[in-house]
Amino acid sequence: MKVSKLLVALFAGALSLGAYAQQPIVIKFSHVVANDTPKGKAADYFAQKAAELTKGKVKVEVYANSTLYKDKEEMEALQLGAVQMLAPSLAKFGPLGVREFEVFDLPFMFNGYDDLHKVTTGPVGKQLLAKLEPKGIRGLAFWDNGFKSFSANTPIMAPADLKGKKLRIQSSKVLEEQIRALSALPQVMAFSEVYQALQTGVVDGTENPISNLYTQKMHEVQKHLTLTDHGYLGYAVIVNKKFWDGLPADVRQQLDEAMVQATRYANQIAKVENDTALENVRKSGKTAIHTPTAAERTEFKKALVPVHKKMESRIGKPTIDAVYQATGFNPNKL
Ligand code: LMR
Repeated sequence: MKVSKLLVALFAGALSLGAYAQQPIVIKFSHVVANDTPKGKAADYFAQKAAELTKGKVKVEVYANSTLYKDKEEMEALQLGAVQMLAPSLAKFGPLGVREFEVFDLPFMFNGYDDLHKVTTGPVGKQLLAKLEPKGIRGLAFWDNGFKSFSANTPIMAPADLKGKKLRIQSSKVLEEQIRALSALPQVMAFSEVYQALQTGVVDGTENPISNLYTQKMHEVQKHLTLTDHGYLGYAVIVNKKFWDGLPADVRQQLDEAMVQATRYANQIAKVENDTALENVRKSGKTAIHTPTAAERTEFKKALVPVHKKMESRIGKPTIDAVYQATGFNPNKL
């Protein structure tokens, strides 16, 4: 009797051990935008590829739209290990102490995606990601979103039209300086709070790639949008380094491959998603869309490019010069 009880207990133990061994490794991937954005879609794609390539050994749980954490909290949560993966916008690395990332926020720094990729897929991009290691963070990839445009409730034909306006920005000192260069008032605010702040008049306007503007319905509370394309907004996909290094080597390799595929996908869809979002804003009829003339664009450049020089001591001249060199941008030739 005693022996059979022991056998039953042993058998049950083996069963639960087996069940335990089959528990997937969970990666919580938190982000602040909607599912149907370039980042949202790429995160879901990564989750799918990770499940496929690891044959179910890894389960990526994606939490979109700030459902788990807002901007600032998610960075802390990653460092504490409460989530394992994020893709914050490049503008959100300054508060972490990695100011070089703010080079991406410099206005008119990139004349389109091709310029940008010369940086993100080249040695400068690699060096930037390596700067995250001492913070306990591993940088895996850059994912595109798009180029930002200004919106407000009054027409924006020239930089002077934004004078005195309260404009929401992400938590970047470079973006603060950019707004000041327009004689406007920068208001740092979490992404999840922007719609309401626009609706209630806490801020007058903001800047966004159109995919973010549209999927947060900001166009419903912004009467005017000018396609200034004055700055870039994209992402670094990051993981908690201790968690990543602790993964079984074969699993990590499969996840690396899933990330390569998700990055290719993200960067293929980003422009299309933004173009479609613009079409949708147009169709909504709620926002007047202005495409600046070449002369108007030059006025914005003249007002904003001096920010590069002003932010030199913060970002570091070598980083700015490295980007100029990669893209061929000359701040003295507008
Ligand atoms: C913002 O705060 O405006 C963006 O960083 C949101 C995002 O993740 O695209």
